[in-house]
Amino acid sequence: MKKGILLAAFGSASPLGEKALNGFAETVSGRFPDARVRFAFTSDRMRTRLAAAGKKTDSVKKALCRMGFERYTHVAVQSLHLIPGLEYESLVEETRAAQAHGGPKHIAVGKPLLQEPEDVRLAANALLAHLPPERGPDEAVVCMGHGTWHTGAASYEALARTLALSDKRIFIGTLEGEHSIDCLLPAITATGAKTVWLLPLLSIIGKHAEQDMAGMSPDSWSSRIRKAGLVCKPVLQGTVEYAGFAEIWLMHLATALGVLTAKQLLETTVTATESEV
Ligand code: CO
Repeated sequence: MKKGILLAAFGSASPLGEKALNGFAETVSGRFPDARVRFAFTSDRMRTRLAAAGKKTDSVKKALCRMGFERYTHVAVQSLHLIPGLEYESLVEETRAAQAHGGPKHIAVGKPLLQEPEDVRLAANALLAHLPPERGPDEAVVCMGHGTWHTGAASYEALARTLALSDKRIFIGTLEGEHSIDCLLPAITATGAKTVWLLPLLSIIGKHAEQDMAGMSPDSWSSRIRKAGLVCKPVLQGTVEYAGFAEIWLMHLATALGVLTAKQLLETTVTATESEV
């Protein structure tokens, strides 16, 4: 048996994002020392951009086929996405395709951050534990997720509802989908908050956090918050960098590896029975 872990993120061309991913990979290696850790990026556009800049990256399918060629037998693919949306679906499809094209014999996929109701509860606790310590009691917090029109968006809503039970000044918005910053602004000002902490609800820092969230352009979230007369304090740290969130992904990875180990046990039993015969 040759065991591997493939961490599959959307992708990032930002040095901050790369640093965060490497940090997470180190944590993963420390936690699961008997498996080699590799990366794949699920966004083809990001991979093309990186390739143009001379950086080669693997898609999930390519990475798995390569691992198959290198005789890996058991591989856990861990999604580093926030929600079970389009990126996650294509990750699962690519895993199937790899299995049919020379990939490792046994592959298990680890769920994204916010899959089960229990994940949402844990993520809400993680967020509450990782709020900026300088935040005053009457200051608002806005978390910017990517968002989607896919049904996976329900995960953001579940998180927002759970957080609202503990803190009425925490808001979850998304770049795409229904909960844009324009929709949130009236509710934020209604709380009486004069200052807004702006946090990315994205696994790693990239263009969305640096430009769409905290950028200088007039339509960035920070510009729009300031235009509404509020003080905006962006924090550039991806969720994978917070221990509380990382722990949820690690838990999902442990489950995926558990599935592989169960398969391995089954095989050993089958082989043993066969040899007995
Ligand atoms: Co995007």
